[in-house]
Amino acid sequence: MNPNHVAIIMDGNGRWAKLRGLKRTEGHLKGSETLKELVEYAFSNGVKVLSVFAFSTENFNRSKVEVDFLMDLFIKKFNEYFYELHQKGIKVVFSKKDAGLPLKLESIIKDVTEKTKDNKNGIFNICINYGGQDEILDMTKKVCTKVINNELDINSITKEVISNNLYQDLPPIDLLIRTSGEYRISNFMLWQMAYAEFYFTDVLWPDFDEKELENAISAFNKRDRRYGGVKKK
Ligand code: FPP
Repeated sequence: MNPNHVAIIMDGNGRWAKLRGLKRTEGHLKGSETLKELVEYAFSNGVKVLSVFAFSTENFNRSKVEVDFLMDLFIKKFNEYFYELHQKGIKVVFSKKDAGLPLKLESIIKDVTEKTKDNKNGIFNICINYGGQDEILDMTKKVCTKVINNELDINSITKEVISNNLYQDLPPIDLLIRTSGEYRISNFMLWQMAYAEFYFTDVLWPDFDEKELENAISAFNKRDRRYGGVKKK
């Protein structure tokens, strides 16, 4: 069965550009085009939830030129992606810290979230200004506040309650893909990844096309998922 929730760490834009004698920003631009194609392909091939790591809280440490370029690219691309995704009935959600992004980008994020909130054909989750440990920390504060305010009994805290209080309440990740030959999860969706199958490839993100996604999905389909149990004969 194809994976229900696919998550992608889109890595290698900078190296892709360097290999071609281009600026790092040109790698990001090409990477954004790759993403647009893959989103459409994924939702047409049975994926119900697609999460992508667009910008981590640590990415703010990059040069101002690169950060500014990425923020402008997000503004442009979120508007661009929005039309087609909305047509296709995809709900767009953002996993992010409350504040920290440029106001113009925050306003587009709010707008896209609001306009697509009733869509039912799939969920596109964009992690931006995101860190997995921060997500768990922010959830902990929310849950503790509810307990202190007597809105929640401590014995009623379940995994569902935790999931409900994360940035987005999403189903577990089935398949995690990371491009560019790095074998790390880099603080990405730690809670949701508990039973994910990992797929690492040397392909740099701008070159990750439909065929590569097909390869990842077919590798996933060959995995034996036991969730800690024993395979039934
Ligand atoms: C990692 O490559 C990529 C990023 C930090 C940014 C991800 C952004 C995109 C794919 C562009 C557009 C996305 C959206 C949502 C519009 P890197 O720069 O770390 O590459 P390197 O490791 O080769 O330097």
